Amino acid sequence: MSAHAKISTAEELRSRIDPARVPEHVAIIMDGNGRWAQRQGEHRVVGHSNGVKSVRDTLVGATEIGVRYLTFYAFSTENWNRPQAEVDALMDLLVNTLMSELDSLNENGVRLHTIGDTDSLPASCRNTLQEAIRRTAHNTRITLTLALSYSARWEIVRAARSIAQDVQEGRLAPSAVDEALVSSRLSTAGMPDPELLIRTSGEQRVSNYLLWQIAYAELWFTAVLWPDFRKEHLFQAVLDYQGRERRFGLTSEQLDPA
Ligand code: FPP
Repeated sequence: MSAHAKISTAEELRSRIDPARVPEHVAIIMDGNGRWAQRQGEHRVVGHSNGVKSVRDTLVGATEIGVRYLTFYAFSTENWNRPQAEVDALMDLLVNTLMSELDSLNENGVRLHTIGDTDSLPASCRNTLQEAIRRTAHNTRITLTLALSYSARWEIVRAARSIAQDVQEGRLAPSAVDEALVSSRLSTAGMPDPELLIRTSGEQRVSNYLLWQIAYAELWFTAVLWPDFRKEHLFQAVLDYQGRERRFGLTSEQLDPA
């Protein structure tokens, strides 16, 4: 496909998106980097570095259509068990990408945020993240959240522990524990729940990602491997989302009484 044809496809897809019904928060499980690299006879790490191009293009696409929160599963708690060389390469990639993209994040109004057990990241990574978060804190167009050393069960256990502590020490009555309180103790406190969850590479599971927050999210799976994912795919997912009826447990008739 020529570059021109590709651009008009993106524009054509974008023109069909209803700006009034764009999901406020899109969460993405980037999967398939290793397979993408292996198919080309390259080391898995080459897949991760090409995946950064997809992060950039998706972020651009998300800002074009007015998504306010974009959350990437960049490194799960379980990913620590990968070969040390791959873990190190992912950490280096994160640091180098943040440093090289910082000006561009600022030019495009992107506020950087992280969720997860970031204390467990190497010091160089933590410092670069802290610096990038501080230097983008004033931006308001879109919040780019990287889930790093993240797992949903980890954050739910942490929230339960902090609530239990408050109850034990008399600061909180058990009857005051409700959904809003639990949400406020998660690492996504203050963010709207994702309305749309995308996973690439053909796998159809949620892999310990935002389990509380995706209670009502629409799920969109694609066989495209993450390094091949571009804003066109995001636009397709949003169009598909806009064609679905979100019922939240109600009937169609209740949602649209004729
Ligand atoms: C899953 O593919 C991908 C990851 C575990 C890491 C994703 C990270 C990046 C694309 C870099 C992110 C960088 C920034 C700055 C956000 P996989 O390795 O599980 O692929 P496979 O299933 O084919 O083996």
